[in-house]
Amino acid sequence: MTQQVFDGLRATSIRDLSAKAGETVLVQGWLYNLRSKGKLHFLLLRDGTGIAQAVVFAGNVPPEMFEAAGRLTQESALRVIGTVRRDERAPGGAELDVSKVDIVSIAEPYPLGKKDHGPDFLLSHRHLWLRSRKQAAILRIRDEVIRAIRGFFHERGFYCVDSPIFTPSACEGTTTLFSVPYFDEQTAYLSQSGQLYGEASAMALGKVYVFGPTFRAEKSKTRRHLTEFWMVEPEAAYYDLDDVMSLAEDFVSRLVSRVLENRMEDLKELERDVKKLEPAASTPYPRVTYTDAVKLIHAAGHTDFPFGEDFGAPHETAIGSNFDRPVMVHRWPAAIKAFYMKRDPLDQALALGVDMIASEGYGEIVGGAQREDDIRLLEERIKEHQLPMEAFEWFLDLRRYGSVPHGGFGLGLERTLAWICGVEHLRECIPFPRMLYRIYP
Ligand code: 4AD
Ligand code: MG
Repeated sequence: MTQQVFDGLRATSIRDLSAKAGETVLVQGWLYNLRSKGKLHFLLLRDGTGIAQAVVFAGNVPPEMFEAAGRLTQESALRVIGTVRRDERAPGGAELDVSKVDIVSIAEPYPLGKKDHGPDFLLSHRHLWLRSRKQAAILRIRDEVIRAIRGFFHERGFYCVDSPIFTPSACEGTTTLFSVPYFDEQTAYLSQSGQLYGEASAMALGKVYVFGPTFRAEKSKTRRHLTEFWMVEPEAAYYDLDDVMSLAEDFVSRLVSRVLENRMEDLKELERDVKKLEPAASTPYPRVTYTDAVKLIHAAGHTDFPFGEDFGAPHETAIGSNFDRPVMVHRWPAAIKAFYMKRDPLDQALALGVDMIASEGYGEIVGGAQREDDIRLLEERIKEHQLPMEAFEWFLDLRRYGSVPHGGFGLGLERTLAWICGVEHLRECIPFPRMLYRIYP
């Protein structure tokens, strides 16, 4: 048995229709919309790969079939057999002249109608909202970006390693840890970043990347924060801050070009102004020091911004608006950066960290650094940050046995997608978002 063959025809994906002009094909999917006019029904079909119009003419099908097609409700499941007609104006470039409609199931009245729903209603129906055209387009772009991520690192000789989700300690500060009861009254924390394990793996394999879900108990209810998000984190031995920045710009520009090459239809569906995205497909990306970035903030009118503080969203927007592509801000005040960052040998007050800020107000998409490779200094930092030394003994071992200069970064997948897709809120860039007040469905 197979569900892929019906009436002797193997199913065709809607995205492949335009290449099959003149052929009789089977399409299996769901009804997106129905319009009727006299002896014609226009069925808008979706199958996940695209949307196509199937035209049912009363003269081409038995009367019962014509009548049943006219009673189909939104999201009813159906198979359609028809002949492909190329039509430049049609979505996907082709239409079907239907010779058979096979109804698989009739949908109950669909809760997501054509009218505008509020974000809360949509999020509570996220399991259905995913079927809408824009949401499906975002998910396809997400898939494209994930494949580009893996392809990029594979080509560059980075090995994929997986870091644990249950961890014994913090990586990115203790205020955003989710704790989970672990056996015998121990506490585990959901991983905030795979970086520390990436560092261990880089000492074993040279160049690696970690790619998985990360968790932050962010109490902030902003459009840029999720409590569960995906991060890809390359880490490489014998890399300094400049190597990290070069890798980051090559990487991000590749992700953008892949989407521009392969998902233009979806960008159109999202009404993305691709002219604004195109410059980011080329390198180099501008690099400015934190000190110069503060000058840009002041020049943009935020004259009260104090040197030494972390940037808020308006400050990132002010910096980003000076450039047509993402900008890398490097050499940060050490006091506001993580314990593992190496100090600038030319100025001990600065950390060799870098943030990449996307254009058009999308904010930070990458955070990275050259790591502290001196065991004595690293121990000092752990104490300064009041982190439990015992939990980091294994991490200190990496400096005891063959310590080398090394570095890496983390790119937030959903932040990057929000920018590439031009969507306002991160919550649309992950299939099932987790936020401060949202864990259903
Ligand atoms: O800047 P962050 O905190 O850096 C790290 O975690 C490093 N350990 C990474 C590394 O060097 N291996 O986070 C990296 C990126 C941010 O730039 C942002 O894109 C994303 O992760 N991010 C979030 N995305 C969604 N929701 C949140 N709450 C996020 N917090 C960080
Ligand atoms: Mg950061």
